[in-house]
Amino acid sequence: MRSKRNRHLTSGKHIRSVVRGIGSYLPANKVSNADLEKMVDTTDDWIVQRTGIRNRHIAAEGETTSMLATYAARAALDNAGLNASDIDLVVVGTATPDYTFPSVATQVQASIGMTHGAAFDVQAVCSGFVFALATADKFLLSGSHKRALVIGAETFSRLLDWKDRTTCVLFGDGAGAVVLEAQEGQGTIRDRGVLTTHLRSDGRHREKLYVDGGPSSTGTVGHLRMSGREVFRHAVSMVTDVMTDAFAATGTSAEDLDWFVPHQANRRIIDASAEKLHIAPSKIVVTVEDHGNTSAASIPLALATAVADGRIKPGQLVMIEAMGGGFTWGSALIRW
Ligand code: UT7
Repeated sequence: MRSKRNRHLTSGKHIRSVVRGIGSYLPANKVSNADLEKMVDTTDDWIVQRTGIRNRHIAAEGETTSMLATYAARAALDNAGLNASDIDLVVVGTATPDYTFPSVATQVQASIGMTHGAAFDVQAVCSGFVFALATADKFLLSGSHKRALVIGAETFSRLLDWKDRTTCVLFGDGAGAVVLEAQEGQGTIRDRGVLTTHLRSDGRHREKLYVDGGPSSTGTVGHLRMSGREVFRHAVSMVTDVMTDAFAATGTSAEDLDWFVPHQANRRIIDASAEKLHIAPSKIVVTVEDHGNTSAASIPLALATAVADGRIKPGQLVMIEAMGGGFTWGSALIRW
């Protein structure tokens, strides 16, 4: 019996959402821990010891999330050798849109000159890219769409209380994008493409990580508020749960992975998650040192880094996972 996941593209074939291209963008302004020492009561030592972060990029005045997303999208299209006319779906994971509406996705759509198809945002904070990828994957598997731009883009610097040392040292701005294409596979885990996705959320954790403003509450943008220790306490078990689900759904294990590309929030969370699932340290892609936590942008930025430097190659098995405000959390297992 055929699984529900492997719907037909044409009779007798299985659809997979295959990564055709990838691109990213980081704002030019690089801010070091030493720069932050001049702004709040913190030290390079504290930040490095607790998080692994040394630098982050901060968007220039007037540089918005949709601009970052558009730069990343254009780079991904170039990398795929495709044009905007080849894309029929744009899904953007972001918690920092330029405007309450329209969506960042429709702004990207206009900027790249795409006048057909559909474009919308997905709001799952730091899990935004995993949620956007899973959403686009389901659209492609249904046969309704052929090629999707999946983007994670954020300007978290605009949500930060720059007087709060417990949060302002942790985040950065950036964007990353992949082009997913519906291709015919065999329906096995040897196929290239997204092999499985697992999304979770639990709204009871709202108070641990939230923004204290919004159009329907305060009428202001608000600032990010976080009980870091509480988030930390849940992070490892949540992300390892959804990775375990991905292994179970595909009959794979940590040993089969070529690369583990986690959400880049904190080096200690990344290492503890890998250790719990016996993922070898040599397989972990870490960019938090140079990017900080860029929320929904962190995974595609890390993927783009590891593709550009030759680590991630076609045919390799890549696990991505994230956890963020809500709480939301999720994983995707991709044969690159
Ligand atoms: O993207 C998903 C969402 N976010 C996360 O995944 C973040 C999860 N949490 C974390 O990464 C960590 O909890 C943090 C890095 C935020 C904090 O690390 P921690 O080891 O949990 O430290 P803490 O919050 O328990 O604070 C320890 C001490 C406190 O001082 P006292 O109360 O022990 O005297 C803080 O006031 O460190 C102090 N502190 C700082 N000191 C220097 C907090 N922020 C700073 C700072 N510089 N920037």
